[in-house]
Amino acid sequence: MQIIISLDDYCKAYNLQIGIYSPLSYFVGLSDLISISKEFKLKDGTFYPLPIYMPLRDQNLSAHIMGKKVDLIYQNDLVGCMEVSEVYEPDKENICISIFGTKDINHPGVKYFLSEPKYFIAGKTNIFKVPIFAKEKYFMSPDEVKSEKLKKGMKSLAGFQTRNIPHRAHEHLQRTALETCDGILIHPLVGWKKPGDFSQESIVRAYKILIENFYPKDNIIFSLFYSPMFYAGPREALFHALVRKNFGCTHFIVGRDHAGVGDFYELYEAHQLVTKFANSIDIEFLLFRGPYYCKICGTIVTDRHCGHSNSDSIFKISGTTVRSSIINGKDMPDWLIRPQIAKSLSKEDLI
Ligand code: ADX
Repeated sequence: MQIIISLDDYCKAYNLQIGIYSPLSYFVGLSDLISISKEFKLKDGTFYPLPIYMPLRDQNLSAHIMGKKVDLIYQNDLVGCMEVSEVYEPDKENICISIFGTKDINHPGVKYFLSEPKYFIAGKTNIFKVPIFAKEKYFMSPDEVKSEKLKKGMKSLAGFQTRNIPHRAHEHLQRTALETCDGILIHPLVGWKKPGDFSQESIVRAYKILIENFYPKDNIIFSLFYSPMFYAGPREALFHALVRKNFGCTHFIVGRDHAGVGDFYELYEAHQLVTKFANSIDIEFLLFRGPYYCKICGTIVTDRHCGHSNSDSIFKISGTTVRSSIINGKDMPDWLIRPQIAKSLSKEDLI
């Protein structure tokens, strides 16, 4: 028996296999899905913040597939197999409320999850054809990142999750982290993202400009993380940290509205949640408040070191402003984004 899988399914199966989602090593079943969403735990009690699930894309197979070993087909190619231990129909709306805090279809993670097929399957997969992305220049496995860390003599390594091109606030966070840590793993997520986000090509191009012209190369590891976004805000910050722990990070950066979207989460809700679960992941969180440009101070500051936070001399820095400036063809000021990076971007870079 065969099942067809999508690129996201293939990415997730490969990530499970090479330890990126450790301690999880299989696609979750219903009891894991419920226990992760309600209690941040696998059914055996192990801490786990987001569910890695496999949708059954051919619904006609739901009655026949239980207990079978099935071939996994991606774009007409046999890429692996799966031992199906369970076929189940999750109550998607309830899961959304637990995971995203909403079932509002305007939330891109909710929309994506609700549009998944009706049945999911659980079990272990064995991928014997390495996906093309894992052979690309900027992909590194957890073992490769760890050996790069060793080679560069880094004892401490701060993980930086992003789905954006770098603007000045990102840069401020990264440079500040380098005051504490020997290195940073700049690790853009390049799996499924919502329309309007930046393309993989533009993110790589922008970071190449930043790293090659401005950063101390010996302190930076740059690699891509192929995995879908959930836009689950605070909960996803925990997941992003756990993943980076698996890549050898000792620290993890959480800034303003981490993995957030629109007004669904409070700007610093992720700081509170990661603090609550800090003992569940063996990693140190670096919590940053949003830097802004202050006209009076003449530089990028935060409310910790600038006395004008309530005045009209301050200008906010955000990816949303960068994206809307690109769409509306507006020039972007130097304090928002480096001119070399701004020049490299166009409307075509938004997916
Ligand atoms: S995310 O969805 O991957 O979190 P983004 O790429 O914008 O989106 O953010 C990457 C990291 O930088 C996150 O930790 C986020 O909280 C932080 N961040 C983004 N913009 C700002 C900002 N203006 N001020 C402070 N932190 C920020």
